[in-house]
Amino acid sequence: ATNASWGGRFSEPTDAFVARYTASVNFDQRMYAQDIQGSVAHAKMLCKVGVLNEQERDDILRGLEEVRQEIETGQFNWSVELEDVHMNIEAALTAKIGITGKKLHTGRSRNDQVATDIRLYMRDEIDVIATELTRLQQGLVELAEAQADTIMPGFTHLQTAQPVTFGHHLLAWNEMLERDYARLMDCRKRINILPLGAAALAGTTYPIDRFYTAELLGFDRPTENSLDSVSDRDFAIEFTSVASLIMMHMSRFSEELVLWASAQFQFIDLPDRFCTGSSIMPQKKNPDVPELVRGKTGRVYGHMISLLTLMKSQPLAYNKDNQEDKEPLFDTVDTLRDSLRAFADMAPHLQPKKEFMYEAAKRGFSTATDLADYVVRKGIPFRDAHEIVGKAVAYGIESGKDLSDMTLEELQQFSDQISADVFDVLTLEGSVAARDHIGGTAPDQVRAAAARAKEALAQR
Ligand code: ARG
Repeated sequence: ATNASWGGRFSEPTDAFVARYTASVNFDQRMYAQDIQGSVAHAKMLCKVGVLNEQERDDILRGLEEVRQEIETGQFNWSVELEDVHMNIEAALTAKIGITGKKLHTGRSRNDQVATDIRLYMRDEIDVIATELTRLQQGLVELAEAQADTIMPGFTHLQTAQPVTFGHHLLAWNEMLERDYARLMDCRKRINILPLGAAALAGTTYPIDRFYTAELLGFDRPTENSLDSVSDRDFAIEFTSVASLIMMHMSRFSEELVLWASAQFQFIDLPDRFCTGSSIMPQKKNPDVPELVRGKTGRVYGHMISLLTLMKSQPLAYNKDNQEDKEPLFDTVDTLRDSLRAFADMAPHLQPKKEFMYEAAKRGFSTATDLADYVVRKGIPFRDAHEIVGKAVAYGIESGKDLSDMTLEELQQFSDQISADVFDVLTLEGSVAARDHIGGTAPDQVRAAAARAKEALAQR
């Protein structure tokens, strides 16, 4: 037999391999709930404008509900011959309710149907992702508050630079994620617009009420142009680019966790339940979760490039190429959501090893800038102060002493402007406390920043 959905003009059935090659049902069945949701709204709209009568509408709604039950209880028989999720559900509906099922597709095409389904699906997934992102941020901010006084080395070029607080470092991560959240919400705004009603490409001759359908589905408004509605996938590219940024941030975060969990740094302990061991080396505890997040970042970048490439040469309006949008999109959703979830679970349980952090900060002459600033305050130009402290550091390297471990006499070899009060600024505590302005690492500033961040999260 020729295909039930379009067989009229065909003289032979689709080749069996071509049917498999062109089918998407194996992956797009993931959108079954959104497909039914869209069909329910479409049927209600058709009834409102008089294209379907109430009996027909009610039969369709009942039939779609039965289809949903079958899918959710695993009884639905997905068929590759029926190509995609849309035609599978429509065929099942017709099998259940008879001829009325064939009326559902009035004034609609799979082109606007699939565009609607993806937007509904992405809106749902973005809401889940946003929740995980918020949970991760909450964990970071709370830990930051608790670690506002914990001193660690801050780095540039991965060389010890100046002391910072661990709380301050955690809040840096939170800032990145805060911007990511804003980008995600901005992306959601452009997704939340209804393409249904565009039909195949030009609109439809039925007296449809797209504002009503939009309202039923919780979209902000209908799209403005039917050609654009069925061909646009830039919302999906935008989502993968937001996802790429989030993964990039989490990958940087991962890189630091992997380094810090090493015997060379010993800055943190990851809970055992987030790590695995080695089958040969009994001593090993490997930071698998951050390593995998770092590794999975690449696949999300890849999906963004796939989608950009998918779209780059498509003439208006819909092309079958677009069916290729789904797998990259779905995998991006899964990867991002699961990576965020793993980190949201893990972050509150990062255990800083404070003594090692403190020792490491002392080891790297991290208060050298504080000494230079001190000498400047005594009236010496900064460039000369830089030179003086550079010599003190060279002496420290040679003698194996941190600046704060030198005697006053030792320090005075480098400048007669140095007096006993120098030790107030050479300590790590003095150094961080002195950076006491908004955005600075002083413990009081970190506590205040954490409080503001908490407040912002509570407003979501
Ligand atoms: N499965 C298709 C997709 O994912 C649905 C739309 C197909 N429309 C068509 N005229 N072939 O894009």
